[in-house]
Amino acid sequence: MRLSDPQLIGALAALGVEHRVGVSLAEKTSLGIGGTSDLLLVRRHESLPDLIRLLRQAGVPHRFLGGGSNVLLPDGELPWVILQLARQDPEIRIEGNLVFVDCAADLGRTVTTCAKHGLGGMEGLIGVPGTVGGALRMNAGAYGTQIGSFVREVQVYRAATGQLETLRGSAINFEYRHTSFAPDDIMLAVRLELPSKPYREILQGIRICNEKRRASQPLNQKSAGCIFKNPPGRSAGRMIDELGLKGHAAGGARVSDRHANFFVNAGHATSADMRALIADVRRRVRERYGVELEEEVIVWKDS
Ligand code: EPU
Repeated sequence: MRLSDPQLIGALAALGVEHRVGVSLAEKTSLGIGGTSDLLLVRRHESLPDLIRLLRQAGVPHRFLGGGSNVLLPDGELPWVILQLARQDPEIRIEGNLVFVDCAADLGRTVTTCAKHGLGGMEGLIGVPGTVGGALRMNAGAYGTQIGSFVREVQVYRAATGQLETLRGSAINFEYRHTSFAPDDIMLAVRLELPSKPYREILQGIRICNEKRRASQPLNQKSAGCIFKNPPGRSAGRMIDELGLKGHAAGGARVSDRHANFFVNAGHATSADMRALIADVRRRVRERYGVELEEEVIVWKDS
């Protein structure tokens, strides 16, 4: 969607919001899939309530994009303008065992910065792509660690009130790849509390997780991580593998040869290709196992 109202464009500039015209969103997602739209880069969290009020008053549909690593966007011209937090030098501030992190910060960089300050616990999250905000929203986890366990406080833009709010960690439900945040809440900053650990020990943990991940996941291909959540007590990857679907494709979208719950963009995949592959694999798993797989990747539907 393109913004054309000069008054609105002027008001955005007055809020310090950067307006980029006709951005290719494929370049902003780890899948390399997505059409084009105007992008609004938010430099100051405090400007969000005014920005969203402005867009609502002008009747402009909008959506917030985090790090783009767990999302499948539609093709073509998108029917929303896209909001994103500016990602230049997001703050990571350490005070004792407490870490204050801007949600635009890269999750991996956060884990290594904390490690250098002798704060561990998050080693398992080292290879999880994306931002701290995205990790929080879905309670990202790997190798027995999930980010929700360390959250003491979160600053969010609450869509329901149109205000910035600070929530205590204990007031948020963190479940397997699910949280109690509303879908249109925007994560802004988080205070984590991490256990002290010797740097060498943390580094060793990071190395082990990196090796496990390299051995089992297609890290050098465009993907959104696991496509489906694991159903209780089962592994989606193993079921898809047992069906012989590694390498199975729909257009340019393909089930990874390395890990069957990773669907990769094998070159020029469209959103329609990826959705067709998801639907096809889900149907086959249902028919064979009687299990309805639920997507872990967030699919933005344009209709
Ligand atoms: N397996 C197969 N074939 C495959 C893939 C897996 O047989 O193609 C088997 C493995 O051999 C293993 C079992 O399935 O016995 C589980 O596989 P794995 O250890 O790779 O874990 P997973 O359950 O597939 C989960 C998370 C990953 C996370 C890893 C490591 C989900 C949906 N996935 O994968 O998270 O990195 O554990 O902790 O919970 C993600 O969320 O995007 C993600 C990649």
